[in-house]
Amino acid sequence: MRIFLIGFMGSGKTTLGKQLAKKLGYQFVDQDTLIEERLKMSVGDIFATYGESCFRTEERDVLLSFETSINLVISTGGGTPCFFDNIGIMNNLGCSIYLKADPKTLANRLKNSQNTRPLIRGKSKQELFEYISEKLFEREPFYNQATISIQAINLTVADIILVLNESLKLPSKT
Ligand code: S3P
Repeated sequence: MRIFLIGFMGSGKTTLGKQLAKKLGYQFVDQDTLIEERLKMSVGDIFATYGESCFRTEERDVLLSFETSINLVISTGGGTPCFFDNIGIMNNLGCSIYLKADPKTLANRLKNSQNTRPLIRGKSKQELFEYISEKLFEREPFYNQATISIQAINLTVADIILVLNESLKLPSKT
């Protein structure tokens, strides 16, 4: 099984993804890290040097490469499901889980990590909140195509496993 965690920046995909992978005995993969390794550059430098469209193409290529691996938990980038037919690819390759969070929570979580995220770098608190509100509205039609949607506030791995078991009857190592 391949499990894709999707959702806005700051929704907890990486933190929860690592914990989920450990609990299931799956390999954890961070999609942004894979892209950085492929291009030997940070995401910020990829955006600055080659532009967002190059990053989106890499993102899609990396997504397709998961076809050859099994038992993965993948933390995707916040924009991944919203380009090409990426959400369809994810749902064909496995199960996607949307970690839902509101703009206020996301803005609070993101205010100290803006430098590593080119789309929100340099924004004031108010600008950050407005950007998140608009982008989230634009992206939700894609996020809402996930196999499973879960509220990300106070979410634990145990909660995710419960929902997964209900929907997919997954074997767990616990
Ligand atoms: C992006 C989210 C980032 C990263 C890139 C673009 C987005 O990933 O892929 O900066 O478009 O929302 P995280 O969601 O892991 O921060």
